[in-house]
Amino acid sequence: MILLGVNIDHIATLRNARGTLYPSLLTAAGIVEQNGGDFITVHLREDRRHIKEDDLYMLTKSVSTYINLEMACNEDVLKHALNAKPYKITLVPERREELTTEGGLNVVKNLNKITEYCSELKNAGIIVSLFIEPKINEIDLFLKTGASELEIHTGKYAEAKLHEQNAILNEIKKFTDEALKNKLRVCAGHGLNYHNVQAICKIKGIEELNIGHSIISQSIFLGLAKSVYEMKKLIREAEVL
Ligand code: PXP
Repeated sequence: MILLGVNIDHIATLRNARGTLYPSLLTAAGIVEQNGGDFITVHLREDRRHIKEDDLYMLTKSVSTYINLEMACNEDVLKHALNAKPYKITLVPERREELTTEGGLNVVKNLNKITEYCSELKNAGIIVSLFIEPKINEIDLFLKTGASELEIHTGKYAEAKLHEQNAILNEIKKFTDEALKNKLRVCAGHGLNYHNVQAICKIKGIEELNIGHSIISQSIFLGLAKSVYEMKKLIREAEVL
C-alpha cells in the first residue's frame, strides 16, 4: 500500500500570518493521522517562514505516527534535526527567494556535502531520503551519498500540459525501476493534487507520496479530515485499478 505523508507547513503559514497560537499543528497532525495520513511531513526552512524549531520538537514528541522532516544542508537546521531526531529526513535544495522547493538536489555539484549530511544523520539513527529529479544517469551518485531512499520531484509532471504528461510519467517509471534494482526505496511528491495523483500511484514501486498544498487548500472548503480521507481514497483506488 502506498503511504501518504501529509505536509502541514501551510497550517503554520496561516498561524504565522497573525502570530496566533491557532490553527494548532498538533490538532492538524491528529486529524491527519485519524483520517488516513500515514505520517506527518514538515519543512524547517532556513528563514522559518512556516514551521519553527519549537514546532518540530513538539511534533516529533507528540505525533502517533512519525515525522518526515524536509531540510536543506544547513548547519543550524541540522543542529535542530539532530536534537529532535525525526524518524526520517528528506534533504532538499533551498533558495531563500523561492516560493516552494524548486527542483531536486544538485547531487553532481554538492556530492561531498550531501554525503556528509547523510552520514551524520544516519549515525544518529535517522533514515535519509534525497529529493531529486528522476535522472537515471545520476543513480550511481545517489548511491554514493549513502541515502537509502529517493523522493522523485513530481513538479514537472504536475505542471506539464496533458499531452506532455505521458512522456514524463514514462521517465519516472523507468527511473523507479532502476532505483529499485539498486535497492533504493522510492517516494514521490510535489504538486500532486486530487486530479493528477492517480497516474503516479499506478507506477509500480513508488511506496510513498508527500502531499501538502493541495490537501491543505482543499481543507478550507471540505475540512482537513475529509480532505485527507479523499486523497487517501484516490491513492487506494488507483492501486487496485
Ligand atoms: N516533497 C518535498 C520534498 C517538498 O519539499 C514538498 C514541498 O514542501 C512536498 C513534497 C509537497 O509539495 P506540495 O505542497 O506541492 O504538495
